Amino acid sequence: MQNAGILALGLNWRYLAFDVDPADLRAAIEGAKAMGFVGLNLTVPHKLLAMDIVEVVDETARRFGAVNTVRFEARDEQGRWRPLREIEETRNESRAVGFNTDAEAITRALREEVGVNPPGAKILLLGAGGAGRTAALKLALDGAGELFLVNRTADKSDELAREIRKRYPKTKTAVGYPTGTVDVVLNATSLGLDVADALPFDESQFSLRKAGAVFDMIYRPAETALLKAAKAEGCRIANGLGMLLYQGAAALEIWSGKTAPLNLMRRALEQNVYG
Ligand code: ATR
Repeated sequence: MQNAGILALGLNWRYLAFDVDPADLRAAIEGAKAMGFVGLNLTVPHKLLAMDIVEVVDETARRFGAVNTVRFEARDEQGRWRPLREIEETRNESRAVGFNTDAEAITRALREEVGVNPPGAKILLLGAGGAGRTAALKLALDGAGELFLVNRTADKSDELAREIRKRYPKTKTAVGYPTGTVDVVLNATSLGLDVADALPFDESQFSLRKAGAVFDMIYRPAETALLKAAKAEGCRIANGLGMLLYQGAAALEIWSGKTAPLNLMRRALEQNVYG
């Protein structure tokens, strides 16, 4: 997806994957900066750790406490900070700036793929890990009407509910299943990655008949048991591929300063993930 986008934008860059031990994250980011990398993406478990490593935390990352995109910057001759890609002289003072493009990708995918707009929406959110927390905070930030949080480990959903009530009191936040209907069920648990997994919710407590749409953050398999069941109930459905696409496209825009070629990146992503 990124290399297809980079090529289409006419940039002489390459997107590469590196397996980094969390203990080496600081050295890896410093090393990338020293080698003149334009930027990088971070995934689990580096997103939280990077908050304390980057020199500047952008508002997008500060809000969610997680960095998934880093842009390297250096001072130009006038002493202004500029993206490293724009600077010829890389020996100037440089810094890493941390952004978060995951949160926006969640709401963009909900809007574009299942027609759910956060303002006023009723949402059942399954999972209170890293992805679930970012989703809950972003939905509340965007004015969700009611959030129902369900998580295997109740302490985590309780704590997340407390945080949301404090930061976004306008959203009605409850722990547990709704009694009435919801606009969307959002799965942010890892249940469904394995085809033998159980559904990520308790069928004795909630029925998909009460959901207008179901969004599963999992994209492989393309259709989880949850999405199959939702389709059978007539819900609008989408998997997490769009989310992956949108966070990547936004990162490419942060690095390049150009509009990402979304359709082309989508095709490249689909080809690589589904063959
Ligand atoms: P991510 O960054 O993808 O959100 P995570 O922070 O490890 O990853 O979160 C995984 C989520 O899936 C959590 O909500 C987790 O529930 P717990 O908080 O109880 O661990 C949920 N999850 C993972 N395996 C599960 C299972 N077998 N049953 C129910 N929930 C599960």
